[in-house]
Amino acid sequence: MARHLITSALPYINGIKHLGNMVGSMLPADVYARYLRQRGHDVLYICATDEHGTPAELAAKEQGIAVDEFCAQAHDAQKAIYDGFDLAFDYFGRSSSPQNHEITQEIARELKANGFIEERAIRQVYSNTDGRFLPDRYIVGTCPHCGYDKARGDQCENCTRVLDPTDLIDARSAISGSSDLEIRETKHLFLLQSALAGEVEAWVDERADNWPVLASSIARKWLTEGLHDRAITRDLDWGVPVPADTWPDLAAEGKVFYVWFDAPIEYIGATKEWADQDPENRDWRSWWWESDKDVRYTQFMGKDNVPFHSVMFPATQLGTRAPWKKVDVIKAFNWLNYYGGKFSTSQRRGVFTHDALEVLPADYWRYFMMANAPESDDASFTWEHFTATVNKDLADTLGNFVNRVLSFSRKRFGDAVPAGGEPGEAERVLGAEIARLLAEYEEHMEAIQFRKAAAALRALWSAGNSYLEEKAPWLEIKTDQDAAALTLRTAMNLIHLYAVVSEPFIPATAAAMRAAFDLPGSTATWVTAEEARTLAEVPAGTPFTVPPVLFAKLTDDDLEAYKTRFGGAE
Ligand code: MF3
Ligand code: ZN
Repeated sequence: MARHLITSALPYINGIKHLGNMVGSMLPADVYARYLRQRGHDVLYICATDEHGTPAELAAKEQGIAVDEFCAQAHDAQKAIYDGFDLAFDYFGRSSSPQNHEITQEIARELKANGFIEERAIRQVYSNTDGRFLPDRYIVGTCPHCGYDKARGDQCENCTRVLDPTDLIDARSAISGSSDLEIRETKHLFLLQSALAGEVEAWVDERADNWPVLASSIARKWLTEGLHDRAITRDLDWGVPVPADTWPDLAAEGKVFYVWFDAPIEYIGATKEWADQDPENRDWRSWWWESDKDVRYTQFMGKDNVPFHSVMFPATQLGTRAPWKKVDVIKAFNWLNYYGGKFSTSQRRGVFTHDALEVLPADYWRYFMMANAPESDDASFTWEHFTATVNKDLADTLGNFVNRVLSFSRKRFGDAVPAGGEPGEAERVLGAEIARLLAEYEEHMEAIQFRKAAAALRALWSAGNSYLEEKAPWLEIKTDQDAAALTLRTAMNLIHLYAVVSEPFIPATAAAMRAAFDLPGSTATWVTAEEARTLAEVPAGTPFTVPPVLFAKLTDDDLEAYKTRFGGAE
């Protein structure tokens, strides 16, 4: 048994998440965490909302509420959706928590003590009307290259050229529209990443060979381009304040840490939140101290997040000279597209998490997304593919098998698993096939290869169908009651096995399958390939019930309705 620390990239507080966000971070982390828990490991799965930064401030302003109130509401709204997806976090925290404030400040002090943080003066745009410094992207104006009149201070959306705010013609504030802007000199804290570059590179070299290529190649690319010093403070009201004991002048000016500085630290902060709400969890630091060699730390994220997790956060951790636990494996994902184009939050294009749950229960989405996870390449969501997958894999291969077997057996043999018959050649062959597929499934789960794991799971379900078709108990029963009883009892054992091994992907359905059998004790623990081979965990005489249809078949009318509601191809 090992201890597994698992985190998924913290969803930003504002904006509704779409399925692309879900499949690239929280859902795979949950599937992996569930699998490891079932295998008997000690798992801590931590996530949180990423709450600081300008977008949250602006969204609160738009709604006319205080930013802390906005974040509290948005946090609860997101949490409710993740509960709906059956994401079994050990803790879902908030980066604005006192715990994160404390740890972020502690880490900054250590970085300064070790000579990795320095104050530097920079020139920045100040808006007199707004009474604040403006981040580059909150300055708009006319692009000097193409004449587009809504170019942002960091980039022109129209001609894609990278800009400096001072390049803009008729520059104005994106917040107030005011053009009463001036350049002011102001001091900020810089993290001296260049001084840590060698160490980070050595650290990456030591472990990136074990990361999926997507993550290691991005990390190496960033290192090759060179690690530059970077400003880690901002002029905002909403954030972790620069500690006054260490930087009194900057604290007096109201500087806060940049959101990308405190967000990854919230992985640690949320662990402390988890510990503080239950005295049983007091040893929280043991999850985060490198000396605890038995902890294996896996992070899940979309590919855009890899530089921050593979290079910048490790640099922060290394610079403290404290033995913070650093990531062992980074599992990164490509994009999930919608009909070949981008999911877009601003244009509301695609399927959003709350809408998805309104249409169908979580397991439909969980299975589809993981079976088609954008692992080696971008993947595309279409309603045609979704409905076809649900119908074939979930409704026919799994759901129909379960209902057919249990209903038929009840009709012919009553409410208990039937006795009679001795396993023969067919059961031996089936057992060997199940043991082989289960070992394959485990191998892919250990390697965090979800598409392959889902394929192995689907093959396990299919093996049951093939067995049933071959034995045809509905014919056997006409001539040999014992033969039919053996077939049905074996098939019921498959259902019980499916309940156990499908749990990471479709937890609610797995629970329904397991609950069909009235067995003593917990039967959720893993079945080894060798145990699975015998297909005899559920003995004759075990009472059972027939669960309601597990997956509804989606019709052509459903398909058309989804496409109309959500928009199909452009
Ligand atoms: N909120 C960021 C995003 O949505 C991810 C932050 S991950 C963290 O891209 F570790 F930095 F928190
Ligand atoms: Zn332009």
